[in-house]
Amino acid sequence: MKAVVATERDRFEVMNVDLDPPNAGEVLVKMVATGVCHSDLSIINGTIPSPFPVVLGHEGAGIVEQIGDEVTQVAPGDHVVLSFIPQCGECYHCAHGQPFLCTAGKPDGCQLDGTTRVHRDGDAVFVMSFLGNMAEYAVVPAICVVPIEKTIDFKAAALVGCGVTTGVGAAIKTAAVHPGATVAVFGCGGVGVSVIQGARIAGAKQIIAVDLSAEKMENARRFGATHTVTAGGDPVREVMELTAGFGVDFSFEVIGHPSTIESCIKCARRGGNAVLVGVGRAQERFSVSSLILPLTAKNIVGCMYGSVNFKADFPMYLDLYRTGALDLDGMVSRTYSLDEVPQAFADLERGVNTRGVILHG
Ligand code: APR
Ligand code: ZN
Repeated sequence: MKAVVATERDRFEVMNVDLDPPNAGEVLVKMVATGVCHSDLSIINGTIPSPFPVVLGHEGAGIVEQIGDEVTQVAPGDHVVLSFIPQCGECYHCAHGQPFLCTAGKPDGCQLDGTTRVHRDGDAVFVMSFLGNMAEYAVVPAICVVPIEKTIDFKAAALVGCGVTTGVGAAIKTAAVHPGATVAVFGCGGVGVSVIQGARIAGAKQIIAVDLSAEKMENARRFGATHTVTAGGDPVREVMELTAGFGVDFSFEVIGHPSTIESCIKCARRGGNAVLVGVGRAQERFSVSSLILPLTAKNIVGCMYGSVNFKADFPMYLDLYRTGALDLDGMVSRTYSLDEVPQAFADLERGVNTRGVILHG
């Protein structure tokens, strides 16, 4: 089958690979739609550590083609969204209401049993986060899929697999934005726009979009931003001015840069929350004054996968989409074939799309 493989740091290509059938506890999914997320690019450029060669892709939806032994969650023909974190239901975190931290397996490029289903010339090829769905097919753990209604558009369903769940969840689950709240969002790409939509759905009265790109900020208004602030100037001062010198109740960072993380923390009001969603490099550090947290009672909160409980939340987000509260169609600004993935990554780096989506055809 055809797959998008990062062969080494800063190199990827669309190539043919071999795929084994699913083992016990695994399912074979024929991919229909795959979102192109900044985290895929972060695997290629080394921001997120990964073994190579690795099949990219962690945001997708498709149709179950075959199931391995002992699989009870889904049947062939089911439409499914993939989750890049498994949910075993048994580990400490699953048992304590934090399934987004499930420890069923390490995201080390293998399946849960430590082996791979993808091969090339007999050698193992790893997959991103148990999935690797930037490919015609993916064999994935059955505890990484959730069935959805068959009437739902696959492009919208794919986005729910990562960006939308991370962003909307950051607002409504991790931060629990409340009606009347004030919000700032640093970074208005696919995930940032999802934070904005989550804040809008939660009833925030003021949503300040901060980005370097004027187009991204204008686009953010479409999804609920009430104000825009250019990151190129002095965004902290401008956010303060827009909030009568207080700062916002909830400040989100959705880029992963130390400088924007520091600005995000400064923009949270006394007693407010800075929510860190963007994924930066492990070697990078941001700094916070030792004085400031105890004196201001600010909270700095890490957001993993929008605090998702995917079995309940993927269908919940798709319900919000069905009723019109969540605009997913508007987020898909361009579609690509698998062969066009190099263009899709170039467009992601240039910031052309809200979200590019691969249609597997
Ligand atoms: N200041 C403000 N905005 C910036 C800056 C900056 N210094 N640098 C980049 N941006 C903006 C870009 O203009 C773009 O609109 O951040 C946005 C990033 O959007 P995408 O590239 O579409 O990334 P996305 O897929 O939304 O992911 C964002 O969340 O899940 C994580 O790993 C992911 O860290 C990444 C982040
Ligand atoms: Zn992602």
